[in-house]
Amino acid sequence: MAIEKVIVLEDEMVVRKNLIQLLHRKRLDVAEAPTLEKAISYLEKDDFDLVFADVRLPDGDGRELLTRCQAMANPPLVVMMTSYGSVESAVECMRNGAFDYITKPFSTDQIEVSLKKAGEFTRLVRVNQHLNDGDHSDMGYEILGESASMKKLGDMIRKVSRTEATVMIQGESGTGKELVARAIHRQSPRSQDPFISVNCAAVPENLVESEFFGHEKGSFTGAASRREGRFELAHGGTILLDEISEISPVVQSKLLRVLQERELERVGGNRTIRVNVRVVATTNRDLAQSVEKGEFRQDLYFRLNVVPIFVPPLREREGDVVLLAEHFMKRYARKHGCPVAGLSEASLQELKRHTWPGNVRELQNVIERAVILSSEGELIDPDSLGLIAPSHERRPVSVAVQDEMPVAESAPMQVEDAPLVPLAELEKRHILRTLESVDGNRTKAAGILSISIRTLRNKLKEYRESEGTVEEGDAAEPVADD
Ligand SMILES: Nc1ncnc2c1ncn2[C@@H]1O[C@H](COP(=O)(O)OP(=O)(O)OP(=O)(O)O)[C@@H](O)[C@H]1O
Ligand SMILES: [Mg+2]
Repeated sequence: MAIEKVIVLEDEMVVRKNLIQLLHRKRLDVAEAPTLEKAISYLEKDDFDLVFADVRLPDGDGRELLTRCQAMANPPLVVMMTSYGSVESAVECMRNGAFDYITKPFSTDQIEVSLKKAGEFTRLVRVNQHLNDGDHSDMGYEILGESASMKKLGDMIRKVSRTEATVMIQGESGTGKELVARAIHRQSPRSQDPFISVNCAAVPENLVESEFFGHEKGSFTGAASRREGRFELAHGGTILLDEISEISPVVQSKLLRVLQERELERVGGNRTIRVNVRVVATTNRDLAQSVEKGEFRQDLYFRLNVVPIFVPPLREREGDVVLLAEHFMKRYARKHGCPVAGLSEASLQELKRHTWPGNVRELQNVIERAVILSSEGELIDPDSLGLIAPSHERRPVSVAVQDEMPVAESAPMQVEDAPLVPLAELEKRHILRTLESVDGNRTKAAGILSISIRTLRNKLKEYRESEGTVEEGDAAEPVADD
């Protein structure tokens, strides 16, 4: 499936027609080029995955094509076809960037082997490109925890991993839902195939469909080349639909079809593509409630919720806070080169007392900061944990007001300095400051603010519009997976 469009550049008609026939049998789109010029004109118009190129052509040398391809943004793989079978010329082609070479006359088998190699290579490159897009550097893979609820979770993961069942992972923000999804994939028979995740909340709404299902070249402004969607990339493996509650009704119905039929069409495309993927979804909202409110399709909910898994909040995991804290301390001491002696007794008490509204992610951040702030070789003291203030310190202002807490005590984020301003202005400042504190990472900011990323995005857009700073790129903001 990774190879779809192929050019056959060959001047000898019989050889060309034979090869084309074979490629058609493999259901490939083939462009026929008897001359170098013709092949180049195809490459200028469209994206191709593979070119079979003869060396000697009436209007030039097939190796010229290699050089041209090297300069392209999305170069196709090139398989050279040499008649003379001279080792030197083949070696030279490979050195100039050919993917493979075959000698004429060739057999069907030779072509099939070459196609298979090219398919596997292309797929690997694409999956890799996708994986490099995200920053998973802080993601340890092991799910740590000795509490009864975490042991139960471990058993559940082992059981569902063996099946093909669609899994819905629910839990508060930062509890480790993504980690659970990765564990399910790793322990499943699909572990050798890709694990691809889509953060449904972080992809701009107008791009969700193309992100899921891919698009054909020119299907919308900005679709400069053909692109496979995440479902296709995950073929054979597992797809994680992260924060599934955030997708629009239109995408919900398209997703339902993929789950029912296991087939899809790319945006702007008319070819039906079959995919074999295991689906795992996460949500930190009560989806059943979204269904009741008419925000989420019931039929899709049932399709996704075949096996529900609940990840408990950290405050309900007896004993795990200290275990996790010590683990993170070692990890960050290594990462930042800050050797610390351990956690002081007072710090341990602080950690146990805190209620961790941001769950494991919050604990991880607190420890990372403490490791950086601590003096070399010393114990981490409660000051550097920064948990002295009441635990609602990190909550949004609106919550504090609702709870009728004195604002200055509960939210020491300069709210007391705020002149008398409209509520909306206060909200705007708070949102922007939060965003700044997490280096612009919207996923994190939305987590801290307890709002969905879509809400955050809409607010930011509003602010830019009111300031008249809407830019062309606004519709296509980058996907910020955390
Ligand atoms: N049991 C655990 N052991 C070790 N690390 C953990 C554990 N649970 C979570 N983490 C770490 O905490 C961070 C948050 O986890 P993760 O992203 O899986 O949470 P989440 O539930 O998906 O959060 P969100 O709802 O905000 O997307 C990650 O860096 C993860 O590695
Ligand atoms: Mg997550």
